[in-house]
Amino acid sequence: MRRPVVVANWKMNMTLARAEEFVHRFAGEDVEAGGVDMVICPPFIALAPLSTLLQNTSLMLGAQNMHWEKEGAFTGEISPLMLREIGVRYVIVGHSERRSYFAETDESVGQKAAAAFACGLIPIVCLGENGEERRAGKTEEVIRRQLLAAIELLELEEDRRRLIVAYEPVWAIGTGIPARASDAAAVAACIRALLYQKWGNGAAEVRILYGGSVTPENIADFTGRPGIDGALVGNSSLKPGSFAAMARAVYKERRG
Ligand code: 13P
Repeated sequence: MRRPVVVANWKMNMTLARAEEFVHRFAGEDVEAGGVDMVICPPFIALAPLSTLLQNTSLMLGAQNMHWEKEGAFTGEISPLMLREIGVRYVIVGHSERRSYFAETDESVGQKAAAAFACGLIPIVCLGENGEERRAGKTEEVIRRQLLAAIELLELEEDRRRLIVAYEPVWAIGTGIPARASDAAAVAACIRALLYQKWGNGAAEVRILYGGSVTPENIADFTGRPGIDGALVGNSSLKPGSFAAMARAVYKERRG
């Protein structure tokens, strides 16, 4: 049974003071802890202070990016070991904003996914076609290329089982226009089929998320589809009430 997970990607938003305020206010929200994994991914500088604040809470910590080497002459970069040391458990890799604004390649995404596992982190690998690719009917082709490169270096059975893949169509990110849940489910099914082809039964445990204009109102449309195990959320994750409402909606949908 795959545990649902709701992941907050704060991107380059929230000062440290606001991030801390989020955690304090979230503590006052009525969320059924236990049924749904909840992960927040703040900017790097907030990770260490939040790690302390999140002890004994139901929120887990994720980073938005990392380098694939453990250390070295890579000015401005953060390594997976550094993240692990301060209590980070998840890391987003290959977000479309990193691919398009910071020239991340399919290959570097694969290196990062493997490096994350090697240092005890769980990668949340992002895949997704842009609007032009979608109009040209290339969604499956793009997903296949990105996915195969992202998982190429994952050799351990236990890593494969813990992988999280997020399908985030670029045209749905930050636009207020999400994908249709049926379309997202079709792509999730395609991702799982590819994983089965590569890995056999190990693919059954991989969690597949949808991301792109997810809100408290629409999240259950996605997680209510077989094969979609949660959501990766930008804008709607910035407010504690909204993030809690999404976790509640997923919990309720799962309990029927
Ligand atoms: P929005 O939820 O703001 O569309 O962002 C989605 C996203 O990019 C999450 O990684």
